[in-house]
Formats: sequence, C-alpha cells, structure tokens
Amino acid sequence: MFRTYLFLHLFFAIVWIGGMFFSLLALHPALRSADENCRKQVAQKALGRFFWAVWVSIVVLFITGMALWHKFRPDFSQNPLFHFKLLLFAIMVLNFLYIHAFLYRKRLTDQIPLFIGINLVLGTLIVMIITYIR
Ligand code: HEM
Repeated sequence: MFRTYLFLHLFFAIVWIGGMFFSLLALHPALRSADENCRKQVAQKALGRFFWAVWVSIVVLFITGMALWHKFRPDFSQNPLFHFKLLLFAIMVLNFLYIHAFLYRKRLTDQIPLFIGINLVLGTLIVMIITYIR
C-alpha cells in the first residue's frame, strides 16, 4: 500500500504544481497578446477546468498524506519542518479557496496570476522541505 499512497501523492502534487507552472509561465503570458474579451474567455475556460483538478489534488494529497504520515512515518510527528509543511499546505488551500470562490467567480481573471504565483512558491517550498526531511 505504501507505494500506492506514494504514487497518488506524487502524481497529484505534480498535477497541482505543474498546472500552476504552466498557467503562470505559458498560459497567461500567451494570453497577454490577445484582446481583453478573448483573454478573459480563454482564461476563464482553462482555469475553470484546472481548478476542478486542483480540488481533486487537495483531497488526494490530504488523504494519502495522512496515510503516509500515520501508517509509515509516525516519526514526522516530532519533526517541526513536517508541521511547517502542513501549515504551508493549509495556507495554499485557503489561498486557492479565495482564488476559486472569489476571484474566479467574480471573473477577476487578471488578478489570479499573482495568487497562483504565491501558491507556486509555497508548493515548491513544500517539495524542498519533504525532500530535505524524508
Ligand atoms: C501541496 C501539497 C503537498 C505536496 C506538493 C507534497 C509533496 C510531497 C513529496 C514530493 C513527497 C516525497 C515523496 C517521496 O518520498 O519521494 C511527499 C511525501 C510525504 N508527504 Fe506530502 N505533499 C503535500 C501535502 C501533504 C500533506 C497535506 C500531508 C499530510 C497530511 C503530506 C504528508 C506526506 C508524508 C507523510 C510524506 C512522506 C512519505 C515518505 O515516507 O516518503 N503531504 N509529499
């Protein structure tokens, strides 16, 4: 079971962080040259699809993370860096809730890249922390 949890954990970490990387470094720069109406429509459609994949990632990362922690790495309970990882995850989820439930719903698509940027930095920090402590 360990390998199944680890595969799902890594796969959905890649979906979330990879999707943010694409959105910031490919999708939004490419959309800058489009007229405002087209830019907002394409961003709204593309982000709408990606954001549902993020909700799946959040649920799978939490469930597989708890399983990996409590079944295979109970030693992490004494590791402050691991608790810092969990804090960063909580901040990422709250930030994403603001992005999806407020900015996206209000079609404030031009403001979204900044907040995706914040989550990309936090997600990268999480990968650095776990690479360092595991
Ligand atoms: C954005 C969120 C997260 C990202 C990007 C992430 C990323 C990773 C990565 C890259 C690994 C290393 C896998 C390996 O061992 O090769 C890992 C391991 C682990 N993660 Fe996460 N994680 C996230 C959220 C969580 C959460 C919410 C929990 C707990 C509730 C968690 C608990 C763990 C545990 C216990 C391991 C160690 C598994 C081992 O022994 O290798 N992670 N995570």
